[in-house]
Amino acid sequence: MLKRTHNCGELTAENVGQTVILNGWVDAYRDFGGLVFIDLRDRYGITQVVFEPDQGEALIAAARDLRSEFCIGVQGTVAKRLTGKENPKLATGQVEMRVSELQVYNESATPPFDIQAGDANEELRLKYRFLDLRRPELQKVFIMRHKMNQIMRKSLSDQGFLEFETPILGRSTPEGARDFLVPSRLHKGHFYALPQSPQLYKQILMMSGMDRYFQIARCFRDEDLRANRQPEFTQLDVEMSFVQDEDIMTSMEPLVANLAQEFTGSAPQLPLLRIDYQECMEKYGVDRPDLRFDVEIKDLADLAPRTSFQVIQIAVQNGDRVRGLCAPGGAKYTRKEIDGLTAYVAEFGAKGLIWLKVEDTGLTGPTAKFLPEDVQKELIERFSAKTGDMIFAVAGPQGVTHQALSNLRIRLGAELKLYDPSTYHYSWVVRFPLLHWDAEEKRYVAEHHPFTMPLPEDLHYLDTDPTKVRAQAYDLVVNGEECGGGTIRCHDPVIQAKIFSLLGLSPEDAQEKFGFLLSALSFGAPPHGGIALGIDRMVMLFSGLTNIRDCIAFPKTARGYDLMTGAPGQVDLKQLRELYVRVVD
Ligand code: AMO
Repeated sequence: MLKRTHNCGELTAENVGQTVILNGWVDAYRDFGGLVFIDLRDRYGITQVVFEPDQGEALIAAARDLRSEFCIGVQGTVAKRLTGKENPKLATGQVEMRVSELQVYNESATPPFDIQAGDANEELRLKYRFLDLRRPELQKVFIMRHKMNQIMRKSLSDQGFLEFETPILGRSTPEGARDFLVPSRLHKGHFYALPQSPQLYKQILMMSGMDRYFQIARCFRDEDLRANRQPEFTQLDVEMSFVQDEDIMTSMEPLVANLAQEFTGSAPQLPLLRIDYQECMEKYGVDRPDLRFDVEIKDLADLAPRTSFQVIQIAVQNGDRVRGLCAPGGAKYTRKEIDGLTAYVAEFGAKGLIWLKVEDTGLTGPTAKFLPEDVQKELIERFSAKTGDMIFAVAGPQGVTHQALSNLRIRLGAELKLYDPSTYHYSWVVRFPLLHWDAEEKRYVAEHHPFTMPLPEDLHYLDTDPTKVRAQAYDLVVNGEECGGGTIRCHDPVIQAKIFSLLGLSPEDAQEKFGFLLSALSFGAPPHGGIALGIDRMVMLFSGLTNIRDCIAFPKTARGYDLMTGAPGQVDLKQLRELYVRVVD
């Protein structure tokens, strides 16, 4: 083997005259009759290497046989490129290597897609992930991911956190998703569950006196996949003892600022904004608002009785809500475009979209005639609307107005270019409800997970009106993505038992499923709490990508397949028999 002296991103004018060896892959080849030019690529960059006839017929003939993705070693002399032939886009663009020796380590079959172009369809890219991962753009993502893990480890270690590993084969922890199960060979009919998160293990570690825990933890959730979700994903998982919610947030903020500085070039001002969940839902209709632009939803129901607009009057009488927002510059939307927006909010259940153009003379639009002048004036004032803006409103049940307006807000933000997409906004949404009523399943469901501590002042609602209980919970939101979430935990076994019971777990069930937790809580458990940041999502945001699959080396498709290995695959009947498992339709 020609053992490399340098990598392909390293040679500069300072190396001119030196004899060096490079190893890498043929990224591109150009045969100019006499001369053969190769762009040689490795993880570090690209170097141009040149085969010249004066090095002998055999060498140039071998060079002519080189094709894309052949893996080779070359020895030669570093030379300055001819004037005018420099490539300022490459770190090595001032120089080239004049080759004196070539070794082909391995030829390559013709790649099934153009690796450099990176525009092949995703199925093909995932099937040949080993080739896809050769793309410098993807390699950059994983270099960022590596750096992110190092920064996280160092930052937390410097703050006295200990890194732990917790079991992958364990008991299921309910985090709201379905478990992946692993049948036990030694215990007929018994199953391990892959962890949805290390939640209970990290709490137990606090009860063991470990004080500060972290883990870069793989989590497994069998849920419907979306662009920002994978069935296995990675969290920076953190837990701390003797803390309140503020302590967790202030401990994480310097780390978030560090990451932001490193990967976006600017750090947010600390402390980050904290928005109360209720206020957040009122203003943005969603618990993970994109705050790169400040359009806010406002309640308009109080104006209904002063209008002659029956639709909203009836809505208010029915107990529905009437809410709206003002789109800066939105008056330029054409009728056809407004029809498009109306169809868009209908996807979220809105029966219509009221629109009012703000003009010098007042509001215009098909419904403006129902609004007397003083109501128009008040609307304009309420939104601080200016000529050229457009006010949109939706009437309907609260959930519909949340969904329709929050999604409309995001769409308007992008279409009207209300923010610079290269900027970042970080905030905390705090004091989520502890639980909500699931009308379909007819039971309470934990908003975060069942181990969350209520706000002390809301404890009494546990007995009277559980949906009013607010939790000591906080989510980290970046550009409209939920990047992290955590809570202060119940360290009081009585409150924990009460919450289990509200969630429909009988004392026997609770004992059966979480006996170890209730037992640990009864031996002097410290007050504790924690958080988990979604590492894949943070890589996605910081690298400006919109698909989480590009941030995971070997991701699954939306249908849960690993197209490269063919997982999930069938197994031998013998294997199934050993596990006491039979496949039935
Ligand atoms: P939670 O379920 O909120 O909290 O998860 C924490 C963060 O993990 C990321 N995340 C995901 N990323 C990719 N694919 C998924 N399927 C996925 N699901 C979640 C999100 C999310 O904010 N045990 C608690 C944490 C705690 O209370 O300490 C937990 O797992 O960015």
